[in-house]
This record gives sequence, structure tokens and C-alpha cells, in this order.
Amino acid sequence: MTTLIKSPAEIDKMRTAGRLAADVLMMIGEHVRPGVSTDDLNRICHDYIVNVQGAIPAPLNYRGFPKSICTSVNHVICHGIPNEKKILKDGDIINIDVTVIKDGYHGDTSKMFFVGQPSVLAQRLVKVTQECLYKALALVRPGCRLGDIGHVIQQHAQGNRFSVVREYCGHGIGAVFHEDPQILHYGQPGTGDTLKAGMTFTIEPMINAGTHHTKLLPDGWTVVTKDHKLSAQWEHTVLCTETGIEVLTARPDEDLSFLTGHAS
Ligand code: MF3
Ligand code: CO
Ligand code: CO
Repeated sequence: MTTLIKSPAEIDKMRTAGRLAADVLMMIGEHVRPGVSTDDLNRICHDYIVNVQGAIPAPLNYRGFPKSICTSVNHVICHGIPNEKKILKDGDIINIDVTVIKDGYHGDTSKMFFVGQPSVLAQRLVKVTQECLYKALALVRPGCRLGDIGHVIQQHAQGNRFSVVREYCGHGIGAVFHEDPQILHYGQPGTGDTLKAGMTFTIEPMINAGTHHTKLLPDGWTVVTKDHKLSAQWEHTVLCTETGIEVLTARPDEDLSFLTGHAS
């Protein structure tokens, strides 16, 4: 296994990439509304990343992925491909997943958006999924085991009668988009690798309203729930610091003050 510890110079580049990825999610919010196609959202994000940020959209041509962002609507769990025929309608929930490369380093983050007014169930799923991410963030510090992170996510999801997707996980990230370690969103406390200061990785729980089972569509990318019930996901890229966590993709629209006290 390659070294998982980033140098201070690499961490600086990760900070920049993370901030740019977060900025894309802030920028796109006002465009998410009924009547807009997911390809419209892709084009707006692509142009912003390339022309405003001077950065590279990492998904484009990544292992053959044809677009610059992932757009996953309702029962799509992840890796939804933007499409001009997929028009957002009132009541939809959509995950927009943005990864940018700046100066050779990646920032990877996603959030859920409401289109008009989704159902009470959809709203609860989205909220619980964000809480799963936040409970995991609160554990990050040197000495934390990866199983601790998976466990807190699984407990909170299942405690709310939702389920955790198993086939897709968080990942180490840096100059490489997806590197070791794998960050599972389920597990047992006190098991798995131990976090060390200088590690950068994503946490990106995918939580389903029904069963955890997934199906890959024939396009080779789009992952949907087997039962076609709703799914939600939130993702941050984080740094494990000497004292806790630095959320490299933090946005001004979220309150991460619960992390202060052990965050750097
Ligand atoms: N951004 C996704 C992740 O969180 C990966 C997307 S790969 C793509 O890891 F090719 F589908 F874009
Ligand atoms: Co990721
Ligand atoms: Co992502």
C-alpha cells in the first residue's frame, strides 16, 4: 500500500481543490428547479469548473464516464449520468456529486437538493443521511478505527428504519481520485484500519428508504435501488488532523460548529 499520509504541500492543494468543489455545489443550487434537465446542470457545472475555476471536472472520461458531474435523482443511488431528457419535477430529490482537479489534486463532494416540495419521507431520508455523515465526521481523529465510522453510520440509518448501501463506499483521495483506504459505511466498532494525521479521504454514505440492495443499469454506471424506493447521499472530503478533522469541502450553507472542540 502506498503512503496514505499527505505532506503539508499536498494538504494545501487538497484545501484548494476541496474549496472549489464546494463552491460548485453552492453555485448550482439556484439552478435546481422544476423543468431543468440534469444535462443543463452538467453544462452549467462544467463551464463553471473549466472557465471560472480553471479546474478539471474529474468524472469526465474517468473510466469512460461521459459527463462532468453525477446527477442521481430519487431511486438512483449514485453515478447518475446527466441527460437532456431527464427533466426535474416538483417533489424530486437529487444528489449532485462534484469532483474537481486543481493543481493535480482532487476535491470530491456531494449534497442533496429538493426540487419543489418532496414528500415527508423524502425529506426525512435526506435529513437522516446528512446526520449519518455528520456523526461520522465527529469521530474523525487519530486513533479512530474505520469500523467506528461505519458503525455510527449504520446505527443511525438502521435506527431510523433505513438501510446502508454496501457495494459503494468512501475512499482515500489526493493526486489519485480513488485510492486506499476504502471507507465502508457499515461495520463494527474497534475494527479496521486506524486513522492517522495527514490522511485525506471521503465519507459518502448512501442510505436507502427500503432495502440496501442495488442494481446497475445497462449503461454501466447508473446505480439504482433494487426496490425502486428512494435513496440519498451526502459526501465530504476530509483531512484527519493531529487533533481531529478539517472538512476540506465545507460549505457556507452548513453549520459544522459541532466539530469545534476537537477540530483544528
Ligand atoms: N464522485 C464519485 C465519488 O464520490 C465518483 C464518480 S466516478 C464517475 O467517488 F465516473 F461516475 F464520475
Ligand atoms: Co467520492
Ligand atoms: Co463524489
